[in-house]
Amino acid sequence: MSETSFDFVVIGSGPGGYVGAIRGAQLGLKTAIIEKDATFGGTCLNVGCIPSKALLDSSEHYHNTKEAMDSHGVIVKGVELDVSKMIARKSKIVSDLTGGIAYLFKKNKITPFKGVGSISGKNEVTIKGRDGQVTKLQAKHIMIATGSEPNELPFLKYDGKRVISSTEALELPSVPSKMVVIGAGAIGLELGSVWSRLGSEVTIIEYAPKICGPMDGKLSQRLQTILKKQGLNIITNAQVKGADVGKSGCRVSYEDRKSGETHSLDADIVLVAAGRRPFTQGLGLETVGIEKDERGFIKINDHWQTQVPHIFAIGDVVPGPMLAHKAEEEGVAVAEFIVNGYGHVNYNTVPSVIYTWPEFASVGLSEEQCKEQNIAVNIGTFPFTANGRAKALDCTDGQVKVIAEKNSDKVVGVHIVGPRASDLLGEAVVLMEFGGSAEDLARSFHAHPTLTEVIREAALNVDNRARQM
Ligand code: NAI
Repeated sequence: MSETSFDFVVIGSGPGGYVGAIRGAQLGLKTAIIEKDATFGGTCLNVGCIPSKALLDSSEHYHNTKEAMDSHGVIVKGVELDVSKMIARKSKIVSDLTGGIAYLFKKNKITPFKGVGSISGKNEVTIKGRDGQVTKLQAKHIMIATGSEPNELPFLKYDGKRVISSTEALELPSVPSKMVVIGAGAIGLELGSVWSRLGSEVTIIEYAPKICGPMDGKLSQRLQTILKKQGLNIITNAQVKGADVGKSGCRVSYEDRKSGETHSLDADIVLVAAGRRPFTQGLGLETVGIEKDERGFIKINDHWQTQVPHIFAIGDVVPGPMLAHKAEEEGVAVAEFIVNGYGHVNYNTVPSVIYTWPEFASVGLSEEQCKEQNIAVNIGTFPFTANGRAKALDCTDGQVKVIAEKNSDKVVGVHIVGPRASDLLGEAVVLMEFGGSAEDLARSFHAHPTLTEVIREAALNVDNRARQM
């Protein structure tokens, strides 16, 4: 094979693309990967999951140093904020990790190309290089992993200064005195938390009656109460309808969906966090007859195949939750399908996490979804207030909910609002992957004193037998 002829050509180097490419190379496929941006890693590493977590951690340190040390007997005076240093630390984390991917390509003998890739034939991908040079690759198999981009509201176009997306919200040079966030999904709540902790007066406006999208209703409500206590102003059931953007600020108008009344809010900056849309622009899908659905997602079958069977699509460009780990699993499954004839993703156990403090982490069905699907369940809950480790950490806000099928006791959902809920959720995902029951969870050792004991107590409470409270 020549240097332009490959078994597997991956377009897009986000978590779906790069992990899928590595799995393909491990399985012996001669693999190439194409990235249009200057660095590898896609949205997640460059302007998504990783930088937002870096800022969440930094802003949490700042906030805790100012507000939460006193009760521990640690007296801190004269706390100052250096936003540019905080942003520089975030950027260093990003560059370390994106550099790490370049190393992984080398280690796995994957050929990277920098430029815009498009499908120019059933077995051909054309790359317009960042330097303008055009390269054509021959590909036995192609995987589209081009991700997503922020939705733009028709009446509120991004200008990158006053009206911003999550990308710019990771790079603000100073703390805005007032910020309006549109949308109380993961992005709105996380980045709203960052700038609120750093001192901005943040108001989040959400169209739906609840925050956190489809996540468990009662726990979403609990998180909303906690976030409000922290100083985030959250307005639900309100549709943002327009905005006047001037040189010195913006006036955002929204309609209260219950009363029909219109209200307005002033802000220095408006962060639009109203969802993301699949990114397929310039991909040349039409050249080979690959179709999209009415929402712009690429149509695929159960094996991630488009209408052209050796062209696959994964991650944010196909239907399903727009989550890095979902894309990763799909990328791996495609590589394994190509080589072994089968690939596997368990869509019932995709975890989702909102990295506020406390975090909200969830896997499986919510109470509402069980009702909708007529699944009879027993539910056990347990609060963090009664947990020794949570008390020691001074982080007792939150609760665990374990949902198990009534007849079989099989766990169908676990929902956690609490400290480090993202990490705590791991055992629930593994339990559900193995089809475990609430009894299995309740009978498994949980070291004392740890936060994980709350999960065990909630599992015990599925059968009304929690011990600690
Ligand atoms: P989202 O779809 O989760 O939430 C957007 C919210 O905006 C919705 O609740 C919607 O009702 C609201 N909205 C839309 N138009 C509105 C209007 N005119 N007025 C008021 N509210 C309006 O989208 P988000 O937060 O932008 O995130 C995009 C994607 O990225 C999601 O799929 C999310 O799961 C993913 N993501 C995941 C993260 C994580 O796993 N922690 C972090 C960041 C993003």
